[in-house]
Amino acid sequence: MEVSVLVGSQWGDEGKGKVVDILSSRFNIVVRYQGGANAGHTIEIEDKKFVLHLIPSGILRDDVICVIGNGVVIDPKALLDEIELLESYNIKVKGRLLISRNAHLIMPYHKTLDSINESGNSKIGTTGRGIGPCYIDKYARKGIKISDLENKPLLEEKIRTNLEEKNQLFTRIYNQDAIDVEAILKEYLEYDKLIGQYIADVPSYLYNAIEEGKSILLEGAQGALLDVDHGTYPYVTSSNPTSGGACTGSGIPPTKITSVIGIVKAYTTRVGLGPFPTELDGDEGEMLRKTGAEYGATTGRPRRCGWYDAFLMNYSRMINGIQRVAITKLDVLSYMDEIKICVGYEIDGQRLSYFPTDVELLSKAKPVYEVMPGWKTDISKVKYFSDLPVNAQNYLGFIAEKSGFEISIVSVGPKREQTIEL
Ligand code: IMP
Repeated sequence: MEVSVLVGSQWGDEGKGKVVDILSSRFNIVVRYQGGANAGHTIEIEDKKFVLHLIPSGILRDDVICVIGNGVVIDPKALLDEIELLESYNIKVKGRLLISRNAHLIMPYHKTLDSINESGNSKIGTTGRGIGPCYIDKYARKGIKISDLENKPLLEEKIRTNLEEKNQLFTRIYNQDAIDVEAILKEYLEYDKLIGQYIADVPSYLYNAIEEGKSILLEGAQGALLDVDHGTYPYVTSSNPTSGGACTGSGIPPTKITSVIGIVKAYTTRVGLGPFPTELDGDEGEMLRKTGAEYGATTGRPRRCGWYDAFLMNYSRMINGIQRVAITKLDVLSYMDEIKICVGYEIDGQRLSYFPTDVELLSKAKPVYEVMPGWKTDISKVKYFSDLPVNAQNYLGFIAEKSGFEISIVSVGPKREQTIEL
């Protein structure tokens, strides 16, 4: 019996979709535990390319049950579009997807609030999917839960009460038009017909599954450095992508977790605003972005690109309890003559002993680099570690040593078969 947590270890977009797809062949159940349709998990199988935002990538394996945990915020329209897309490829979703009664619903006014917040001075560079405002309502105890879809009088009352308050905000503070409550009621009072069949008591389902000896993979979205508590606040998402979030976001207790797997990109990327010490500007950054096709799977925004940061990864390993990792996109570095690896930070000539999540400090941090020779060989068809060029093996060995983890998977391309298992 294995209950493993899989976390994005940097600023998101590490390639979790592909790795979950590979690993899910060994698991009975895959659970998504936080975030919402801000995530975009890309998987390529043969000539098909999927981008999943809410449903765990395990759905592509016929015998895997997929669960959306209570920690996730669900945009019902995005969910239904995704189900329709999967079914158009003959991927069965009915009977294989369970949604926690306690997950919260993204409402149209959450998206409006997200875009209003982003038009002001305290811009974060969000995905605009209403994530922050939905979690605000959840923690203010005003949120609307998936279970409310099954109680129409209560759902109507909650929507009316919420909109009364939100419309005051829109009209009096933001000088916007009021949102039409009837249109929202019409849409949301119908969702039970389409979503009701998936609603389940997830904690007891998962408890029983563990008792029966089933294996469970808990899939995080975004990345550790975007965690609202442990990331580079305020330039973070509004949930806990770190491994601790897997328990609160699913109902599986910490005593049942057997391992934590980190997904680590062979270099670093970030979307949205916030400090990024190893960022590459100009032509170097552009070349890495183009070679790695680093454009957001959800928003299409160009991702900021930079060198691998072992100092950051050490912090991430520490807060997540990462034991082994999957390194992704190693093939992207194949064009480089030399590769830099950040092994520490300095501020005013002083070496830091810890990773500063405080953005004031992190903005001042100067990376200390070690340089390694590149391998300048196409590695996208390599199947075994021993067949990698020596310089690529050395690079992996160096980053593993400096970051304090063991590598168990190396991905050398987007397809399932472009994977080296160690
Ligand atoms: P939000 O999650 O849409 O509120 O965005 C907050 C921050 O998290 C922004 O910097 C986004 O670019 C970033 N973010 C959200 N989801 C993802 C993701 O799936 N990958 C990478 N960055 C993300």
